[in-house]
Amino acid sequence: STVVFIDPYGERQTVEATLGQSVMEAAVNHDVPGVVGQCGGSLACASCHVYVQQPWSAQVGGPSEMEDDMLDGALAERRAESRLSCQLTMGPELDGLTVEVAPEQL
Ligand code: FES
Repeated sequence: STVVFIDPYGERQTVEATLGQSVMEAAVNHDVPGVVGQCGGSLACASCHVYVQQPWSAQVGGPSEMEDDMLDGALAERRAESRLSCQLTMGPELDGLTVEVAPEQL
């Protein structure tokens, strides 16, 4: 399946993601700028912050309570569609998922 990353300047980059992989892992594997993933996906850094784009935001839903706490400490502005991309697991229903990378991560 594919994930589309939009950088803070509006440039799009489409990468391949395997099923079961997190969106953060897909980004790091393809050197997508701005997705750091410092803690390796253990919900301890908030450096994988993205804004889920329409129409995907309803489908991926909101963050868990722990993720919600981490998002409160994220460097970039928090928005309604903010998620930590290490917590988004690729499944067939998310093929084409489009996220904007938060402008600051650490
Ligand atoms: Fe650290 Fe997502 S990679 S919270």
